Amino acid sequence: MNIREATIDDMLGMQNCNLHNLPENYTMRYYLYHALTWPQLSYVAEDEKGRIVGYILGKMEEEPQDGVPHGHVTSISVLRSYRRLGLANKLMKQSQEAMRDVFGAKYVSLHVRQTNRAAIGLYRDTLGFEVSDVEKGYYADGEDALAMRLNF
Ligand code: ACO
Repeated sequence: MNIREATIDDMLGMQNCNLHNLPENYTMRYYLYHALTWPQLSYVAEDEKGRIVGYILGKMEEEPQDGVPHGHVTSISVLRSYRRLGLANKLMKQSQEAMRDVFGAKYVSLHVRQTNRAAIGLYRDTLGFEVSDVEKGYYADGEDALAMRLNF
């Protein structure tokens, strides 16, 4: 399994992976905006045939309310049969490193469904994120989001 920076050519594969894995989907325009604006913050995991089996879509917060430069994970997912191999952990670390080293981020933030045990396990137990807020009714179906962050 190979992990590398995402390119414009990967955007369809990433969108496809996202459609398989998550109810939160994005327009191609939004993927392209990430890739063109912060090319160092999005990564893909590909199998030996070059098929995208996981991705992270990362960005810098453009108008941080606290005035502190920080990164944000828009979306991460790994296809079901490639889970528990450490791919998401590696994708997160690559993006976090670039947020800090390339863009001077002081921390990284994200939102996650409060019932998403796998993702919360990854963020809290493996990577050391903490819950900074609970955002009521954040998702389209009314579920609350945990706002999480990790200081660099
Ligand atoms: N249950 C509990 N803990 C888990 C689980 C699980 N099912 N999966 C991962 N973890 C935790 C564990 O601590 C794990 O370490 P371990 O395997 O040594 O115990 C650690 O996370 C690292 O696991 P990885 O193998 O790196 O994670 P994986 O590549 O399987 O991807 C992911 C995790 C992205 C959450 C995957 O399950 C997935 O794609 N889920 C569907 C999409 C999704 O929910 N994405 C996150 C939405 S929030 C957002 O995008 C900001």
